[in-house]
Amino acid sequence: MHIFVAGGAGYIGSCTTEYLLNQGHEVTVFDALLNGHRSAVDKRAHFIQGNLEKLDVIEEAVKSAKPDGIIHFAAFIEVGESMKNPLKYFRNNVANAINLCQAAADNNVRKVVFSSTAAVYGIPEYFPISEHEPTKPINPYGDSKLMVEKILDWQCRQSNGRLKYTALRYFNAAGATAEHGEDHHPETHLIPLVLKAAAGEWPSITVFGRNYDTPDKTCIRDYVHVLDLAQAHLLALESDFCGSLNLGTGNGHSVQEVIDSVKRVTGRNFTVDEGERRAGDPDRLVADSSEARRILGWKPQFEDLDAIVESAWKWKLAHPNGYED
Ligand code: UFG
Repeated sequence: MHIFVAGGAGYIGSCTTEYLLNQGHEVTVFDALLNGHRSAVDKRAHFIQGNLEKLDVIEEAVKSAKPDGIIHFAAFIEVGESMKNPLKYFRNNVANAINLCQAAADNNVRKVVFSSTAAVYGIPEYFPISEHEPTKPINPYGDSKLMVEKILDWQCRQSNGRLKYTALRYFNAAGATAEHGEDHHPETHLIPLVLKAAAGEWPSITVFGRNYDTPDKTCIRDYVHVLDLAQAHLLALESDFCGSLNLGTGNGHSVQEVIDSVKRVTGRNFTVDEGERRAGDPDRLVADSSEARRILGWKPQFEDLDAIVESAWKWKLAHPNGYED
């Protein structure tokens, strides 16, 4: 297949691009390089630098690539920033996504796979979280992703199924491939921050709250390896399924367990500070991904937290300063 990857210079986009190329597919990466890195774009991929805000630019890019499928990763991802600047999120994550949907329809693309998030569930009522859980996002980031899911759903219905879509609701993406890893500016995610503390780049790691309703009182998340996410994207492209699917391992790990894992894997000790709760953090988010396993035949390979942390640590050791740009 020829796959058009919008946002292929970002963390999950670059790892997925590498995976698709390794599986023998052709890839065109489209990225504005606002947050992505030029050096994260696999050298085997075609690269178009462009922004989804311009309909004519994205129309031309899709027309020239003539892809069989599109994966849409290009979005802003900071929950906290979305609370402060909702319009920035709705403009980029929703309005610009409409341009990509338009280009997909105008160029008879068969399938769009959309990068969605567990944040669409807000504070869930049931555990583990299945797709039957009501979607009640509590921040503009999660709401912007849910809006695009709905847009794709209407587009699919209007086209009588000519354009199919799968929205993949990731839980906590983590880990690295041999070539690509996580390098956000600023970095806010737990595993890369704990690794910075282990590497001595940061003086300490701060635990945001030890008063949650969990066994060790720190928040529980479902960390899913980025290569397992990449596998799910390819399976979704190959499938005729239209709808939304959760992607997580089903194993929950607390913030304290992540810190313990980093100490085990790296063999390094570091200071752990105690902080206040971060606004909007639910006690626990753990996926029921049985639908993705059943419908797509998805089988995550990395079920073990230490293996996920180890892959991220290896990438960090090989790329001490992250990407060059
Ligand atoms: N945490 C700390 N200290 C830190 C950073 C994080 O204790 O320095 C805690 C957080 O409070 C949270 C956990 O570590 O309890 C994980 O936090 P992350 O920021 O790594 O990830 P989130 O669970 O907040 O968010 C991730 C994605 C979002 C997505 C969400 C869906 O980054 O894009 O999962 O569940 F919306």
